[in-house]
Amino acid sequence: MKPPFVITVDGPAASGKGTIASRLAADHGVQMLDSGLLYRAVGGLLAAGGKDLDDVEAATAVAEALTVEQLSDPAFRTRAAGELASRVAVHVPVRNALFRLQKAFCLRPEGAVLDGRDMGTVICPEAPAKLFVTARPEVRAERRWKQLTGQGEPVTLEDILEDIRKRDERDGGRAASPMRQADDAVLLDTSEMTIDHAADAARRIVEAARARWERS
Ligand code: CDP
Repeated sequence: MKPPFVITVDGPAASGKGTIASRLAADHGVQMLDSGLLYRAVGGLLAAGGKDLDDVEAATAVAEALTVEQLSDPAFRTRAAGELASRVAVHVPVRNALFRLQKAFCLRPEGAVLDGRDMGTVICPEAPAKLFVTARPEVRAERRWKQLTGQGEPVTLEDILEDIRKRDERDGGRAASPMRQADDAVLLDTSEMTIDHAADAARRIVEAARARWERS
């Protein structure tokens, strides 16, 4: 039996993947999973509880007890939460604890859109449509800086570029589910694109995958 029509959108921070993923979910009338938010919540709740980010046991306990209701806290959308997320995301037991919830999305009969770092490689390797969205670090830094200053966070562009470089290195270099393009994912470099242009390009890639999936 063919798998549900699931779209995976992976890539580094501020590549445009979140916006692209939510537009694709709206197009297809399906739910979207922002898997980064799970790691942000685990990091944020762990830090709020005064625990060390390298305390694997404590981090795993937080991940195991995580509920969907806890995800709506705006504190998890901040710059600091992105860093905390990337720190706890290196722990294999944390990733394992979050696996089931993510896999459930991948198995939804009506399909879904999954946004993250390892959606196409680890969580839903069978997905019929896969994108790997990226852009040059300088371009991503500027986008993230605009977003954070728009939310009222007083940050400099230099600091954000440094964050992005550090996070790319940690997410791509870790042993557990490192960020990488799946062999069958289509690469979309949005460096020279507006978000509307990028979303249109993503839509065309997904339409082609959908046509193949319908014929299969
Ligand atoms: O929004 P942004 O791209 O900055 O980050 P995010 O998607 O919210 O992810 C935050 C962090 O969580 C990433 O830097 C990764 O370390 C981690 N993450 C992960 O390891 N696996 C995922 N599927 C999603 C996020």
